[in-house]
Amino acid sequence: MRLCLALLAAALAAQTSVTLDAQTSIQTAASMPRIVQQDGRYALLVDGKPFLMLGAQVNNSSAWPAMMPKVWPAIEQIHANTVEMPIYWEQWEPSPGRFDPSVLHLLLAQAREHHVHLVLLWFGTWKNGSGHYTPSFIKLDEARGPHVVTRDGRKVDSLSPYSQFTLGADRTAFTALMRELRASDPQHTVLMVQVENEIGTYGSVRDFSPAAQKLFNAPVPGELLAALHKQPGTWPEVFGADADEFFYAWSIARYVNQIAVAGKAVYPLPMYINVATRDPFHGTPGSYESGGAVDRVLAIWKAGAPAIDLIAPDLYNPDYATYTTLLDLYHRPDNAMFVPENGNTPQYARYFYAALGHGAIGWSVFGIDQTGFSNAPLGAPRIDDAAIAPFALNDEIFGPIDRQVAQLNFEGKLQAVAEDPANHYQHLTFGDWKVLVGYGLPQFGAQDNRSAKGNDPADGGAMVAQLGPDEFLVTAVHARVDFLPADSGKQRQFLRVEEGSYQNGVWHMTRIWNGDQTDYGLNFTSAPQILRVTVATY
Ligand code: DGJ
Repeated sequence: MRLCLALLAAALAAQTSVTLDAQTSIQTAASMPRIVQQDGRYALLVDGKPFLMLGAQVNNSSAWPAMMPKVWPAIEQIHANTVEMPIYWEQWEPSPGRFDPSVLHLLLAQAREHHVHLVLLWFGTWKNGSGHYTPSFIKLDEARGPHVVTRDGRKVDSLSPYSQFTLGADRTAFTALMRELRASDPQHTVLMVQVENEIGTYGSVRDFSPAAQKLFNAPVPGELLAALHKQPGTWPEVFGADADEFFYAWSIARYVNQIAVAGKAVYPLPMYINVATRDPFHGTPGSYESGGAVDRVLAIWKAGAPAIDLIAPDLYNPDYATYTTLLDLYHRPDNAMFVPENGNTPQYARYFYAALGHGAIGWSVFGIDQTGFSNAPLGAPRIDDAAIAPFALNDEIFGPIDRQVAQLNFEGKLQAVAEDPANHYQHLTFGDWKVLVGYGLPQFGAQDNRSAKGNDPADGGAMVAQLGPDEFLVTAVHARVDFLPADSGKQRQFLRVEEGSYQNGVWHMTRIWNGDQTDYGLNFTSAPQILRVTVATY
C-alpha cells in the first residue's frame, strides 16, 4: 500500500512537472518578442502586446563590466526603456570554439536590475565595414579570412564576404551566442539582436578577388531575377553600370542571411541590420559604404536576406529634408521602421516624433554613457545634462504611454511630426478634424498657428492619436496644437481637456486644462504633458 501511494505520488509529481514544463514552454513561446504586421503597419510584441522601444546605445567600448558604473547613471537619466549594447566577437570567442558568457550574463543581470530591456549588437565580421572586432585567429589568418581587394589589387580594411572560413566562424560564434542567450534569458530581457554593425565596405565598390570575379561573371541567381523581374544574364549583362554594387550587396546579404538563419534556428528572436545610410540626394557610388543596405539596394537585401526581419537606418544627418526622406525610404510595407542610431546633438531629439509618424517600433540615440567619449563633430561635444535633456524629455513623456502609443500606431490611428525649420506649421487630418501644429508661438495670445515664426533652433514635435471620432491623445514639445473642424462653417470648442497619464493601461486624470491653458490652443513647452482631448463644434 505504502509502495502504491509512493508510486502514485511519484506519478503525480512527474505529471505535474510535465504539465508545468509544457506550460512554461507555451508561455515562453507566447511571450517571445516578435514583430507582427497588419496592413503594412508593424508592432514589436513584448509579453504579447505592442511595445515602443525608447532606446539609448552605449559607446562602442562601453559594454564591459568595468564600464557599467558609467553606463547606468546615464541610462537612468535619459529614462530609456531599452539599451542597445554591443557583444564583441573578440570577447565572446577568445580562442577558437571557446565562448565566454561572463559579459553577456552580467549585461543581462544588470539590465534586469535597472528594469530595462536590451537589444544586443553583434559586432562580428563587420563593424562600420571593418573586421576590427574579429578574434585574432581571424585577424591573423589572411589566407583563409582575406580582406577585400580593390580593382587595382590593393587590400582594404574590410573582410571578404566570399570566405567560407570567415562566414563559418562568424556563424558558429553567433549561433553559440544565441544558444547561450536562449538558456540564460527566459524572461526575454533581450528583445532583438542586430546582426553585425553597419555592414559593407569603404574604399572599394566590391571585392575584386579571383573568388569574387568568378561569381561576378556567372549568371545572376534566379531568386534575385525573380524578385526584381529581370531577364537572365551575368551581373554586368543584367545590371550594367550598377552591377558592381548590386552584386556586392547581394553577396553580403546572402552571407548575413546564413548567420541569421543559423542563429534563429536555435533562438528565433527578431533580427535586424543597421545601415550607414546614403545621402538620398547627393550620395553617388564611392561616397557611401558599398554593399550595405542603402536605399538603392533595399530590394536586393530584402530578396537576399529574408531571415533579417527589418533593415534599420542609422541617422546622422540632422537636415530636415534628408532625415525625413530617409524615413520615407525605409518606411515600406515590407519593412518595420526602427531607428537604432541617431546623432546625440539636441536637434535630433525632435525627430523621434517624425519616426513615430512613420510607424516606428523604436528609436534610439547613440553614445549615451559617462565614459567621457564624444563623437563630435558628429555628436555633442560632451554627454552632459544639457546633451541628455531633450532625449530624456521624449522618454519621460512616452515611457508611461509606450504601450498605448505602440498599439495606436499599429492600428493606424496615430500621426506625428517634427518641426521643419523651413515651415513653421504643419497639418494633420483625422476624419472631420484637421489638426494644426504651430512652432514658436507664445503660450498666451490668439495668433493664428499659420503666423508661427518657428523655434530657433527648431526643436518642436507633436503626436496626435485618435481615440474616438472627437477624442484624441495629444502630446508635444515646443509646439501649439489646435483642432479645426473640416466644415469651415463651424467653430471648434474644447469639451474637455484632461492632463494625465496611463497607469497599467488605465487613464488617470491629474487636472483639467481650461482658461488660459486652452483659450489659445494647446501649448506644449518642455514640460512632459499628456492630454486626452474631446472636441466639439458649435
Ligand atoms: C555608427 C556606428 O554604427 C556606431 O557604432 C558608431 O561608430 C557611430 N557610427 C559613430 O560614433
